[in-house]
Amino acid sequence: MSQKVRKAVIPVAGAAIEFLPVTKGIPKGMMPIIDKPLLLYQVEEAVASGIEEVIIVVNKGREAIEKFFEREPMYENYLISKKLPNVASEIRKITTLAKYTFVYQSEQRGLGHAILQVKDAVGDEPFLIILGDDIIMNEGGDPASLQVIKAYEKLNAPIIGVQEVSENEVSKYGIIEPQKSQGRYIKVRSMVEKPVKDAPSRYAALGRYVITPDIFNLLKTTIPGLDGEIQLTDALRRQKNLVAYNFVGKRYDVGTRVGYLEAVIDIALHRDDMKDALKEYIKNKKIED
Ligand code: G1P
Repeated sequence: MSQKVRKAVIPVAGAAIEFLPVTKGIPKGMMPIIDKPLLLYQVEEAVASGIEEVIIVVNKGREAIEKFFEREPMYENYLISKKLPNVASEIRKITTLAKYTFVYQSEQRGLGHAILQVKDAVGDEPFLIILGDDIIMNEGGDPASLQVIKAYEKLNAPIIGVQEVSENEVSKYGIIEPQKSQGRYIKVRSMVEKPVKDAPSRYAALGRYVITPDIFNLLKTTIPGLDGEIQLTDALRRQKNLVAYNFVGKRYDVGTRVGYLEAVIDIALHRDDMKDALKEYIKNKKIED
């Protein structure tokens, strides 16, 4: 029997250089998609997938993130006094969605290093990882996190959420070497971080993993790899029984400016309060080369 996945880790301590100068002033996770910070989309996905505790790995700008998830009764009262009780309760709800734990990553030594920092907060149980740069929408179906959790529960093996990317994109991701596949499940023989040539497949790890606690020992002995960073991929390569799950959903790479913009537009086009006006604007827009 597999153990229940109760905790999610969201590392948001990356430098976010692509979004300078704004990320000099605010942490990347607090950048808005319309009126909600990026990080809240991921927290909501975790909670909708049954997660009870969200562990956020923070660095610069941690105060803004911590404050966002903290209750502020005076502010709620102010909104109520302005006759906005619904807004007040929405703001309060964010603070109660899950138990929030913050872990500080003081050095930028890579994703594997960020995950190593949560060893004590996670303890001896399987956990979900959601990467802050990947927003995945699956309207009407299970969120991507729930899909990888269900795969974990079914197989009792660590799971990497993957999707196929185009040939010219494999060098941007952790790429699996499949051993054999059955439906959406792919047994993983090996894995390589951002291959520039001879990629073993086009299946890329896209920011959703269910990992077992033995990863911490593997990470401790993982030597710095690509870019001199401790790569999660390098530790996972040594993990036994690794399975990839080809999840369903549209994924946005909000680590890039265009990916971020695509997410903003698509999410707005799905919101009842905005879609008609935005469609009208797009329809009338003349695009000149
Ligand atoms: C990280 C991981 C990579 C994964 C990617 C998904 O890379 O190292 O294996 O495929 O996230 O977004 P990053 O984009 O942080 O360089």
